[in-house]
Parts: sequence; C-alpha cells; structure tokens
Amino acid sequence: MFARSALRVARVAATPSVPKVSRAAFSAATKLRNAEFVGEKKVPVVTYTHGEAQRSTFIVDQDQAKSDPDAVIPLSQEVYNAMTPSLQKMTIMGKTVIVTGAARGLGNMMARACIEAGAKNMIIFDANPELGVASAAELHKATGSTIPVEFFPIDVRDAVAIEQAVAAITEKYGAPDILINSAGIADSNIPAEKYDHEMWRRLIDINLNGSFFMSQSVGKAMMAANKPGSIVLVASMSGSIVNYPQEQSCYNASKAGVIQFGKSLAAEWAKYNIRVNCISPGYMDTALNNVPKLDGQKKIWKSLTPQGRLGAVTDLNGLAVFLSSDASAYMTGANVAIDGGYTLY
Ligand SMILES: NC(=O)c1ccc[n+]([C@@H]2O[C@H](COP(=O)([O-])OP(=O)(O)OC[C@H]3O[C@@H](n4cnc5c(N)ncnc54)[C@H](O)[C@@H]3O)[C@@H](O)[C@H]2O)c1
Repeated sequence: MFARSALRVARVAATPSVPKVSRAAFSAATKLRNAEFVGEKKVPVVTYTHGEAQRSTFIVDQDQAKSDPDAVIPLSQEVYNAMTPSLQKMTIMGKTVIVTGAARGLGNMMARACIEAGAKNMIIFDANPELGVASAAELHKATGSTIPVEFFPIDVRDAVAIEQAVAAITEKYGAPDILINSAGIADSNIPAEKYDHEMWRRLIDINLNGSFFMSQSVGKAMMAANKPGSIVLVASMSGSIVNYPQEQSCYNASKAGVIQFGKSLAAEWAKYNIRVNCISPGYMDTALNNVPKLDGQKKIWKSLTPQGRLGAVTDLNGLAVFLSSDASAYMTGANVAIDGGYTLY
C-alpha cells in the first residue's frame, strides 16, 4: 500500500514536469532554486509514511553553522522524523557510543560525527587525561550542552580498567550499542634491526591488544544485554600494504593483526548479532603525522596517492557512521580503505 502510493507520488511528480531541456538550462534552474533556499530558515519537508504525505518544516540555523564552524549539531527527533526511511537507517539515532582515542584526531572527529548522526550518549576513552577532560568538555559545549559526553581516562592496554569502565557505562546507560576503537600509536622510520624490544611490545600492546581488550569488554556487555551492536576497528592501509619509503614493520604488523582479528571476530560474533568491521585509513593529516621530520616523506606519500593529498581529519566520519548504523546491517568482517586511492597502485 505504502510502496504503491509512494510510487504514484513519484510518478506524478516526474511525468509531466520533465520537459526536454539542455543540461546547462537544468543546472541553471537548479542553481536558481538553491539560491532561493540559501538563507532561508525554514525548510519544507514532505514525509511519506503509511501512504500519507505529511508536510512539515524544519529549521536550518545557517547563522549558527556560519558563526561557529566547530559547532556540533545533534540530530533532533524532529529532523529524524522528517527523514526518509533510507536516511533514517543511516543514522545512529538514540545509540550509546564509546569512541577510544577520541581526545583528539580521527577519533575526536568520528565522535563529533556520531553525535550529528543521532548518538544519545558519547563516551570517550583516552589515555591522555588532560586532553580527554578538555575535549569532552569542549564537545559537550559544542552540542549546545545537550548531549552527555563522558570521559574515562582509560589506557586501552589496561583490560581490568576497561572492564570496570564498561560495567559503569552499562549500569548508567545500558549496554553500549557502538564501539569505535580509534586509539593507536605509530612508530615509523625505525629499521627492524634497530627496533627496541620494549617499543615493539608497547606498540603491539596499544594497537593490537587494545583492540582485543576493548572489543571483548564491549562485546560481552552487548551479549549480556542481548543487544545487537556494531564494532568499528580503526586499522590502517599499512595492515595490507608496505609503506614507502619509511620502514615501520612493527606498525604494519600491528594493523595487519587488527584486520585479521576483526574478520575472525566478525565470524565468531555474527551469531550474537554483533557486527565487526575495520576502517583502513591511508595517510591522514593528523597530529600523528604532524612531525617536521616527515615533511620530505609527505611529498612522496602524496605523489603515490591518486588524489594527490593526505586525508582530512574528517574523512573517516561518513564511513564510521555508516558502519555503526543499520544501513550496513549485512556488512560484517569488512575492511574498508579510505586512502585517496593509495592502495590502487
Ligand atoms: N593519521 C594517520 O595517518 C593514520 C593512518 C592510518 C591509521 N591511523 C590510525 O587511526 C587511529 C587514530 O589516529 P590519529 O591520527 O587520530 O592519532 P592521534 O595521535 O591524533 O590520536 C590518537 C589518540 O589515541 C590516544 N591514545 C594513544 N594511546 C592510547 C592508549 N594506550 N590508550 C588510550 N588512548 C590512547 C591518544 O591520546 C590520542 O588522543 C590510530 O589507531 C592510527 O593508527 C592513522
């Protein structure tokens, strides 16, 4: 019933009103229409549900976005209700989300995106207590002080602390729905023959063991609550390729471990309705790479990247939300590269 009447609406809109116009004329008309909308506060929305068309408006505060580019605009129930079913599936409306390593960098940006995509509670785990407190306060304020943002000074190497923090979160908000594990470190430009054993152990401990400890605690909480969940592990393209020209065998091994761990876990936990996927970023423009001695190498990295640039710090946001959302319900065990095409060559 709904499908047929939705189709009828689509046909009515499409059939008589598409005269043969040139592409240029069409884009000019589109520009004109867009220009009319710019600056408008109220945007008309038509929602088709149960075969009925419901007209409403929602407010776009262009001025707020312009005056504060760092503002994080939480997805409101009103806007969610006005979305089409496909777009609703792409949100994480009402979910409780843990992001590790979110005191800064890619994790921080993904946490912001999750709030704009509907997260109800945001929990940050990070080993840097000062930055973590400051980032959580800033993020909460950026949402207009509407979304609870909690910071736990957790080192992802500390399985006991993780277990207790996840238990505290579960008691307060219920079991988490989503884990994005972004905490990680990189050692590079160290030839294997000179790599200090303690440094090797530390890196494996943070990047690989940390992914396991976090996934295990959060997965157990999801299972105990009989709740479906999504775990997103931030690996790296270095888990699948060998970087050039710098030598960084330990980092590459740690991320290869994360990818294979993610695939294996996805197979094990499908029966619990817990999905596990990896994001494998290429070279991203974050503090991790903001080291003067890497400047020369960055030129080489860019030259080897079809898009000719490093990834922006926000470039993982869309995929992180997608993998967290029901839009990716049939995706598990995937490892998705976001690398400007680096791994194509
Ligand atoms: N930046 C890149 O080019 C790039 C490329 C591929 C993959 N990655 C991966 O993306 C993730 C995020 O990288 P980023 O560029 O945002 O790095 P970043 O250094 O900017 O941020 C990492 C965050 O993780 C936290 N952290 C470090 N060790 C921790 C620990 N033991 N316990 C808890 N928190 C800890 C840090 O305090 C920091 O806030 C990492 O896993 C990294 O390996 C980054």
